[in-house]
Amino acid sequence: MTETTTAGASAEAARGPTAGPGTTTITMTVNATTRHLELEPRTTLAEALRDALDLTGTKLACDRGACAACTVWLNGRPVCSCMMLAIDADGQAVTTIEGLAQGEALHPVQEAFIEHDALQCGFCTPGMVMSSAALLERNPQPDAEAVRDALAGHYCRCGTYPHVVAAVLAAAERK
Ligand code: FES
Ligand code: FES
Repeated sequence: MTETTTAGASAEAARGPTAGPGTTTITMTVNATTRHLELEPRTTLAEALRDALDLTGTKLACDRGACAACTVWLNGRPVCSCMMLAIDADGQAVTTIEGLAQGEALHPVQEAFIEHDALQCGFCTPGMVMSSAALLERNPQPDAEAVRDALAGHYCRCGTYPHVVAAVLAAAERK
């Protein structure tokens, strides 16, 4: 074995096992249920949720990290699911908009969005709700500026921003 080959083998060993190009098994806890998926490593988390698990509440708009419509929680923190590979969520906990309500009881943020008319077409809404609910978990009494900060990066083509801020502040009051 040449020196170059030995160095290449060492580098490969340091990188650990590789996946692909075929499918690989991924295990995630999605909305408190363990799910085993056979996916190609190139599959994004958004595609896995929507196409493999039929959780279509998570919306794909730009599919390039520019709008936050695809926001879900990864271990309780909001992430853009179009910007993450499903394989990187292996062994982790994902919460989608479908997992936010408790049975028939909507999350206070969901109720407040309805009461404050904080949506029009609704395409940005699941992502907005996920980031808003995460904000109230870490800051139960935010002011309007904190709400706007938490929703920075969420684009709403319908211009619902003032109603969204009012809804999140109302949800904080209710909590
Ligand atoms: S769809 Fe993911 S950021 Fe726009
Ligand atoms: S409600 Fe239509 S994009 Fe926000």
